Amino acid sequence: MTLAIIGGTGLTQIDQLTITGEQSLDTPYGAPSAPFVFGELDGKQLVFLARHGNPHRIPPHKINYRANIWGLKQLGVTEIIAVAAVGGITEAMAPAQIAIPDQIIDYSYGREHTFFADDLEHVTHIDFSFPYTQNLRNRLIAAAQHLNLSVSTSGTYACTQGPRLETAAEIKRLKNDGCDLVGMTGMPEAALAKELDLAYANISVVANWGAGILDTEITMAEIEQNLIVGMDNAIKLLKQTVLNS
Ligand code: HPA
Repeated sequence: MTLAIIGGTGLTQIDQLTITGEQSLDTPYGAPSAPFVFGELDGKQLVFLARHGNPHRIPPHKINYRANIWGLKQLGVTEIIAVAAVGGITEAMAPAQIAIPDQIIDYSYGREHTFFADDLEHVTHIDFSFPYTQNLRNRLIAAAQHLNLSVSTSGTYACTQGPRLETAAEIKRLKNDGCDLVGMTGMPEAALAKELDLAYANISVVANWGAGILDTEITMAEIEQNLIVGMDNAIKLLKQTVLNS
């Protein structure tokens, strides 16, 4: 089993997955968010993990990212496609749109963000210039082109702490910083995958415009509505990517 999908808000399970098994694991870092689900998508085997648990109950800052990534490595996974709901900041990132980001700025804090913390023989600094694996991003982009699915093929993902959404001023600042998308779970997940030498790419599904872009409040109802459309496309994209691999 080499491919894993981590599903975020709006993707707690993949209905199209033919489930073949389930496994709860313990790791040196504690318990992952949920049991790992083994299944087949169009005849290809993969592992699925619900990032927020199933049912969806773990807020972004409480997710045990280290246990999730360690557990996947323990299972023999070599590549991870992470799906995440985000807010859109720049013009192309309209609600229900999909993006395959290529950069990250991390604004989160207080999270267990590294495997290289204790009992070290030497200090390790991973290179993180390009946080997402280009080859895996290219496969997602090729699958989107094959499907004629409109996706943004780059973008900078801002990871905020949550669980609250941002203020209008914070979104302005993120825009000034060069961010296109804002979510709460992209980090430390991406860095932990890199620390364990796992290929990792992200499918961001835009749930709403970032705070203050419209002059109305952001509602859970609009988020849910846009995620229904966006996640449907994300699943199509996942299926085509798996089929091509
Ligand atoms: N901000 C941060 N995370 C999000 C948002 C947002 O506006 N929408 C969905 N996840």
